[in-house]
Amino acid sequence: MYDANEIGLDWRGTLDMMSGVRNSKCSIVKPNNHLEDYTGRLRAILKMEETIVDSTMGKLIWAKRLSYTDSNYRDCLVKKSTSQAHAKQEAVIQWLCYKTLSSLGWSQHCPPIYDLFTYNNSIWFSMAPIYKAPVLDVYLKTLNTWRIKHPSNGKTLLGILCQVASSCLALQNIIGFNHRDLKPDNILIKSEDTKSHVLSIDNTTITIQPSPTTVLVDFGFSCLGPGRLPWIQAGDDVLPPFDACPRVGRDLFMLLTFLLWRKDIQESLTEEYIEFFKSSLRLTTERWSQIQGTRLNPKDWIYTMVTDYGFQCPALDPMTWLESCVATFPDVVSIRTHSDS
Ligand SMILES: Nc1ncnc2c1ncn2[C@@H]1O[C@H](COP(=O)(O)OP(=O)(O)O)[C@@H](O)[C@H]1O
Ligand SMILES: [Mg+2]
Repeated sequence: MYDANEIGLDWRGTLDMMSGVRNSKCSIVKPNNHLEDYTGRLRAILKMEETIVDSTMGKLIWAKRLSYTDSNYRDCLVKKSTSQAHAKQEAVIQWLCYKTLSSLGWSQHCPPIYDLFTYNNSIWFSMAPIYKAPVLDVYLKTLNTWRIKHPSNGKTLLGILCQVASSCLALQNIIGFNHRDLKPDNILIKSEDTKSHVLSIDNTTITIQPSPTTVLVDFGFSCLGPGRLPWIQAGDDVLPPFDACPRVGRDLFMLLTFLLWRKDIQESLTEEYIEFFKSSLRLTTERWSQIQGTRLNPKDWIYTMVTDYGFQCPALDPMTWLESCVATFPDVVSIRTHSDS
């Protein structure tokens, strides 16, 4: 049983009751900056400050939040999605992802949600900011050996991807999650937090060698589901309404394709890593040269592929892919299975 009153939404229930989220009442930010829940009770004082993103895709603003319950004072980011029809779903999915990862000691890999509210007649949510964490493509360019074919580039990237795959594994297994927009600018990298990452789930422990901490953001297209139909999904008309969720291998397929397409990645990874990524994607040499030669925007191609009714990529199921990493790069990641006895 989940209780979304934690984030100021009048909804409680189990995953199969998620469709009720759409019509549940949320909090409101009044002109005097009072953030009140749907019963009129004060949750916090929320003061909007500098706008950092204002595009057709949405809006992101810095805010200061003084909690009424514990007097905690903190900076936060508030987001307004373009897809207002799915804004509640986006916040609820991110909230559940954070809770799920937290329960496994992996809370660092997703920003927590604080409140879901209306403000100036739009739906917004507040969340913790991730500091000093560039998006993946920007981070890669800061590596000393970037644009030189050096094995350390592939090793660093693989450590990051193994964290993404482990997060997806946990979220897929526990809440049927697919991100559905897993591209490099929806992944933040905290290089100051470089350490080994250990995830224990069911009877398996995954250990990733020291690498910068990887955080998933932007749940604006995500879904949770039991397999055939999503229980809940964000995203606008870009994605079909009855998309199977989760869909085998979709998220890693998207991310690896986005990465492999990039010229700077091709110039920075040694053949061993390029070959591994190509074979993970099951790309034939012929298909690979087609991709390299195409003028098509990779984005269009990727979204067309993964929304195709029959799409699936079993080799990129998170656990299958992690096992293939272990087999090829045992110095980056290892997996231990415990017997129950
Ligand atoms: N919690 C966060 N902390 C720090 N930066 C963030 C956070 N959430 C998003 N961002 C930054 O803002 C950008 C836009 O946010 P995102 O949620 O991806 O919105 P959009 O739906 O517009 O792509 C992200 O690419 C990331 O750089
Ligand atoms: Mg984004």
